[in-house]
Amino acid sequence: MAGEVLLDAQGLAHAFPLTRTMSVKALDGLSFQIRRGEVYGLVGESGCGKSTAARCVMNLLRPQAGRVLYRGIDTCDPKAFRANRRMLQRNRQLIFQDSAASLDPRMRVGDIIAEPLRLQRVTPPRGTCRDEAAFQMKYVGLDPGYLDKYPGELSGGQRQRVAIARALAMEPELLVADEPIASLDVSIQAQIVNLFKHLQAEHGFSFLFIAHDLAMVEFLCSRVGVMYRGRLVEEAPARELFARPLHPYTRALVSAIPIPDPRRERARKPVEFRGGELPPGGLWTEASPGHFVLEERGDAP
Ligand SMILES: Nc1ncnc2c1ncn2[C@@H]1O[C@H](COP(=O)(O)OP(=O)(O)OP(=O)(O)O)[C@@H](O)[C@H]1O
Ligand SMILES: [Mg+2]
Repeated sequence: MAGEVLLDAQGLAHAFPLTRTMSVKALDGLSFQIRRGEVYGLVGESGCGKSTAARCVMNLLRPQAGRVLYRGIDTCDPKAFRANRRMLQRNRQLIFQDSAASLDPRMRVGDIIAEPLRLQRVTPPRGTCRDEAAFQMKYVGLDPGYLDKYPGELSGGQRQRVAIARALAMEPELLVADEPIASLDVSIQAQIVNLFKHLQAEHGFSFLFIAHDLAMVEFLCSRVGVMYRGRLVEEAPARELFARPLHPYTRALVSAIPIPDPRRERARKPVEFRGGELPPGGLWTEASPGHFVLEERGDAP
């Protein structure tokens, strides 16, 4: 695996208080790395901690343990964060499930797209902010005729394209997308994933893509981490992971993906995963080059 490590999440742990005496462990020793130009997929069932991980990576939440290095800078250290704030804000962009819904309804599309440039005082590379917004719109497949429209006048898919254009106008090094297609119609989801694939190939940004839909992850990502209860249970190059899932949880996830061929689909046997707590003290083992799995320790009687 070539390329410099851009993002290095090390042993992230975070628990949210539920009551005065109880808390929920959202992250429980999550570690992963993303190299320059890499598309990394993070998958796992609802509640396993994916969004909490995204918030830690973007420094919207400080993990109670562990750290997030970006270009080798410890971004969880308030002093280091402050010293590099501008660089960090310019180079990392976040798109989330409700990005489309949370666009300011009183702002015009062109202003929404150019707003981060204005806030960060970045000189637009292509003339005025309006020119830049029009360019980015064309780039994400939106008619620049919508420049003066309001978000309420667009469809859900169009609004998500606005959110993507806004993020890309900053020419980020790292794009973090937390379930960016989950709230869209199924017919639009594939279009947006295709758009991401095309944009990533063109721009070469590093991409953390968080999703439920494994078929989309297989299509888009070069490497995939499978999360269960706040930590990784398996990580491998995408093709390898889907061809040879090793952890029982991954096997269950992969066996649940529908197969487009009807004959093979009829023969598909979903694998059950018993769920529950992972046995403590699992070993992070490299089963084959680049393919890691959390193994139960064999020394139990
Ligand atoms: N602000 C919060 N306060 C209390 N509990 C929280 C908070 N944020 C997350 N949690 C809890 O932490 C756990 C992990 O949540 P998180 O949103 O990170 O999961 P997720 O994998 O993104 O799920 P989904 O696929 O549904 O988006 C869940 O049990 C959730 O209820
Ligand atoms: Mg989430």
